[in-house]
Amino acid sequence: MVRRLGTRLRTATRRCYSTVKRMRAFGLSLIRYVASILSHLLPQSHFARIHRRRTFQAIYRNQEWGTDGDSRFFSGVGSHGGPAAAYVDAMIPVISAHLSECGDQPKIVDLGCGDFSVGARLIKRLPGLQYVGCDVVPEIVEHNRQRYGTSFVQFEDVDVVSEDLPDGDICLVRQVFQHLSNRDIACVLPKLRKYRFVYVTEAQPLERSGRPNPDKPANADVRFDWRAGCGRGVELDQPPWNLSLKELLRVSGTLGVKEVIITHQVRFSD
Ligand SMILES: C[S@@+](CC[C@H](N)C(=O)[O-])C[C@H]1O[C@@H](n2cnc3c(N)ncnc32)[C@H](O)[C@@H]1O
Repeated sequence: MVRRLGTRLRTATRRCYSTVKRMRAFGLSLIRYVASILSHLLPQSHFARIHRRRTFQAIYRNQEWGTDGDSRFFSGVGSHGGPAAAYVDAMIPVISAHLSECGDQPKIVDLGCGDFSVGARLIKRLPGLQYVGCDVVPEIVEHNRQRYGTSFVQFEDVDVVSEDLPDGDICLVRQVFQHLSNRDIACVLPKLRKYRFVYVTEAQPLERSGRPNPDKPANADVRFDWRAGCGRGVELDQPPWNLSLKELLRVSGTLGVKEVIITHQVRFSD
């Protein structure tokens, strides 16, 4: 009798425990869902900033953009392989040509600098240039600061959507907009006007299909189907932005990714 009572009690406790666990998981996913809707609707709110930070922290923690096996942070294959090298080769002469127009202490501002793999290659070939890398993930900013920070190379914890951007001359935004929502991008674009030269790099599908600039929440994904190579990416020269762009570079994505990575200079009208 006592033993049966004990067994029943244990079964009831187990059931109760698993119900609480399920309710907790449901509550958490509900909170995440409401948070993503709110941050989508009010991208400049404090709440949205926290949501974006958590989203990109989780991407790095869960290695959603892959890993190289040793690095603590990995911003994706596009930040390391052939596309990154081609970008650096193309940007060196472009940046060098701007330097004479940028005063005594030309400064590059790299928005969404990630693991600094691209920035490090640039800076190595442009010694003496001031560089500020910004990212929404404070851990990566601190990591970069400890590892690469000098009096010329600095890192700031900035959410480019909701906060002021550092001053500078040349602004680089490489493979960042593709992970943000259209409302987020709309908040950033007017802030880029303060830079003399702005270069935006975005991945595009091999075949364009559907309407331009489909929306998506801020996350690790891009707008198009990179396995099939179709859909649409972020196109700043299309509605709702209709900006004037000059193409600078076009490189194929890495193996198995049906995309082309395009760098444009953005020319804002006065
Ligand atoms: C795919 S990685 C690209 C990194 C680097 N630009 C490159 O080309 O190697 C995108 C980076 O943008 C950062 N990011 C995303 N949203 C941001 C925001 N609102 N403010 C600042 N950084 C952001 C992410 O944390 C991530 O490090």
